[in-house]
Amino acid sequence: KKVALAFSGGLDTTVCVPILKEEYGYDEVIGVTVDVGQPEGEFEEAYETAEALGLDHYVIDAKDEFAQLCLDSVRANADYQGYPLGTALARPVIANAILDLALEEDCDGIAHGCTGKGNDQLRFEAVWRASDLEVIAPVREMGMTREWEIEYAAEKDLPVQGGNEGVWSIDTNLWSRSIEGGNLEDPSYVPPEEIFEWTSQPSGETELIEIEFENGYPVAIDGEEMEPNELIAFLNEKAGSHGVGRTDMMEDRMLGLKVRENYEHPAATTLLNAHESLEGLVLTKEERDFKQTVDAEWGQKAYEGLIDAPLVGALDAFVEKTQERVTGTVTIKFQGGMAQAVGRDSDYAVYSESAASFNTETVDGIEQADATGVAKYHGFQSRLANEGAKKAKPE
Ligand code: ARG
Ligand code: SIN
Repeated sequence: KKVALAFSGGLDTTVCVPILKEEYGYDEVIGVTVDVGQPEGEFEEAYETAEALGLDHYVIDAKDEFAQLCLDSVRANADYQGYPLGTALARPVIANAILDLALEEDCDGIAHGCTGKGNDQLRFEAVWRASDLEVIAPVREMGMTREWEIEYAAEKDLPVQGGNEGVWSIDTNLWSRSIEGGNLEDPSYVPPEEIFEWTSQPSGETELIEIEFENGYPVAIDGEEMEPNELIAFLNEKAGSHGVGRTDMMEDRMLGLKVRENYEHPAATTLLNAHESLEGLVLTKEERDFKQTVDAEWGQKAYEGLIDAPLVGALDAFVEKTQERVTGTVTIKFQGGMAQAVGRDSDYAVYSESAASFNTETVDGIEQADATGVAKYHGFQSRLANEGAKKAKPE
């Protein structure tokens, strides 16, 4: 029997390798690492650990697919409880890549090393349970704790490295970096500067950049066209150097647990701000209002790892339609850890400077005085209601 394991080379997944043989009766384990833009060091850790374990190891490049999904999330202004989604967006991409390989390799089972307390188990299995493969979650099913894993690894002389499994539990991809665990589990503990890798403490410096959007997708910065991957990496550097994109929050996980989370997401913050600002110029008020509802639902489903849900397909159709006019440029100002939209321009602007201006008399034949009738009626029902209440119950 053969099983494909989502493998990072960290403690959880390393422990899973012998466990799948000993406890689950598999003769052959293959480890699969999916590239969604993790730092080089994580691949080295995976390679080295796999080699030391004698594990058959595959690396699948899903960077472009993931980068595209990140930009799709920008079109939907996607967040969860205020932070740009990262881990959540990557999981279905990873899960699908591993499933495809497992089927190609004629595997009987498919396994992950996620905790039974977290979101990731749900996101992986939402994808995997569409197949006939046996889905295995050793960490959850055997009730493993970190301490138990460390002891087991020592006993079995497993090649466990410091790296990603040091003091903090870190999950990194192209879109965001998440840091949790250790002392951070105490919500009152102030994060030390050392947990941040993508963002520096804001300096007094200011910088302006211009982002060009085409149908809601960012396509160029300061006139230079870039591929999604490249554009995101560029902005992570640039905005990160200005300290943009830090989140420290209490997050409500799907199972109901609250967790203290820290995130870094410089490019995501910049692009989301820019995109929303451009929408403000080109979408009608009723489109913006309704789209908020659509966006919120999109973000919620993405958080749940259900990006393939029919609902999301339907939401995407709405988003797609609205983005037909989200073409133009936005000027972003980096300052004091913020990425603020300070200018926007589009051929599709729903904006008439002369109509809004204080300096012109009439627009399309409409005069200031024409608003008098509207002003007389405005709040009419409220006035009647308040008057009636006063009469009915005089003080
Ligand atoms: N809580 C976040 C989520 O569910 C991120 C979790 C990332 N994992 C980690 N070990 N840092 O999307
Ligand atoms: C994990 O890595 O399994 C914990 C994070 C989560 O699933 O929410």
